[in-house]
Amino acid sequence: MSFLCVKDLHKSYPSGNTVVRVLRGLSLQLEEGDLLAVLGASGSGKSTFLHLVGAMEQPDSGSIMYQGVNIVARHAQQLARFRNEKIGFVFQFHHLLPEFTALENVIFPLLIRGEAVTKCRAVAERLLDEVGLRERAGHKPGELSGGEQQRVAIARALAGSPRIILADEPTGNLDTRTAESVHHLFQRLHVERKFTAIIVTHNPALAGICHHKKLLQDGKLVNYPDVGIFGAYA
Ligand SMILES: Nc1ncnc2c1ncn2[C@@H]1O[C@H](COP(=O)(O)OP(=O)(O)OP(=O)(O)O)[C@@H](O)[C@H]1O
Ligand SMILES: [Mg+2]
Repeated sequence: MSFLCVKDLHKSYPSGNTVVRVLRGLSLQLEEGDLLAVLGASGSGKSTFLHLVGAMEQPDSGSIMYQGVNIVARHAQQLARFRNEKIGFVFQFHHLLPEFTALENVIFPLLIRGEAVTKCRAVAERLLDEVGLRERAGHKPGELSGGEQQRVAIARALAGSPRIILADEPTGNLDTRTAESVHHLFQRLHVERKFTAIIVTHNPALAGICHHKKLLQDGKLVNYPDVGIFGAYA
């Protein structure tokens, strides 16, 4: 049984009097510990796909099975718990809470899980240390550089020891050098923690550290080298 098995996923959005058919029979299998890079043109449905796999939105049809359990058509409460326990999200614009410190940003998802404050604090401090920000734990996002903010976001995503990381252009907003350091950090954390990750990226270096590369095209995921004669999209 695969760690993640997505079958025949369809998702449309209303657009005026018509509908935009974004995902049209998308299927995917991933094994535990796999790193998958998803590439694709703007508007091809990459973020939509991540939202569905992350149980933030529901598909029109199809199934999303994690270790044999379908997360489609579950109650909102069950989905919220699933997200909180199993999934770590990293976004392009880190989405940190600006009025709270780096440490508090990493602690919050743990507190939501109902764990003891002292334990949450210890986990968050260790994670900030791991991403090289021990000295910055008391800084607010506005007092941190872009790369530092993104490292806080990665620490936050990892705080609950999720089994799957979903990242949407995690270094799309950073300069080449800073992006590179975040890639190395991600790679090191993956070696240590062996999570499964789906990373939407246009960055060839980040796609290069992934085991698999797929292109979202015509509402489906295709193997990256299998794209047609004009398929040199990157
Ligand atoms: N909530 C929504 N309501 C209506 N249309 C939507 C919604 N979300 C996405 N879409 C449409 O679905 C299509 C796919 O959007 P999506 O954000 O998944 O693309 P993307 O591949 O992530 O693009 P980008 O690379 O620009 O981030 C787009 O045409 C978008 O306008
Ligand atoms: Mg997107």
